[in-house]
Amino acid sequence: MAARTPIVAGNWKMNLDRAKSHSLAEAVASRRGEAAGVDLVLCPPSVYLETVASALKLVGGSSPSGVALGGQNACDKTSGAFTGEVAPPMLVDVGCRYVILGHSERRTLYGETDAIVAAKVHAALAAGLTPIVCVGELLEEREAGRTADVVSKQVRGSLAGVAAADLPKLVIAYEPVWAIGTGKVATPEQAQEVHALVRSLLAGLSDTTTAAKVRIQYGGSVKPDNAKDLAAKPDIDGALVGGASLKADDFLPIAAAFRG
Ligand code: PGA
Repeated sequence: MAARTPIVAGNWKMNLDRAKSHSLAEAVASRRGEAAGVDLVLCPPSVYLETVASALKLVGGSSPSGVALGGQNACDKTSGAFTGEVAPPMLVDVGCRYVILGHSERRTLYGETDAIVAAKVHAALAAGLTPIVCVGELLEEREAGRTADVVSKQVRGSLAGVAAADLPKLVIAYEPVWAIGTGKVATPEQAQEVHALVRSLLAGLSDTTTAAKVRIQYGGSVKPDNAKDLAAKPDIDGALVGGASLKADDFLPIAAAFRG
């Protein structure tokens, strides 16, 4: 099996202010060594991207600490009359290397469909960003035994038209919606089962060698005390962390759990 570098990203959502964004980014950068060998990404609100870029001392997307910057969303267009939107090249311009796309909050609160997510994935890849593409089922879908169907449809739809060779340029985040912000984490077995399914879907879109290169994160109430058991699963290559990414004392131990 291909060795995949683990990746742990902090999705700060619509939290913190400028001063807190700066100090949290500085704290993560200064303690980065605790998670050596794990790719770390911070995704602040877009108005604080430059603040975090300066705290990380980013130059052209690279920082001395190796902590990378990511957006939480992006437009599928590169410029023009799209009030309120942020274009992928703009994210690159301020130092982003990653962008979260199709987060369940975007899907459920802002009506993002798989087709919209796919258009954004194409635009992000064209700009040279690594999309973190989120998928995951609702509680009622899990209870109805529809998890595999729902996740399969989301993966195929959100990656529609992506060339097989480009799949390793993106990251998939499996985030069961019922586990996001609820404190109700999927068991490592439940997560591994879906991660394995996602990898087999990726193999169907390409081949097993290509699929083995794609990193698949788990997201949904990841905390320092459950990260190790998740990290022990073969297809769980990192975490997309919401609430626990807002404190360096929680985020670093989670990232450290994914050290090889
Ligand atoms: P949570 O959020 O860690 O607060 O559950 C995860 C996410 O929404 O990415």
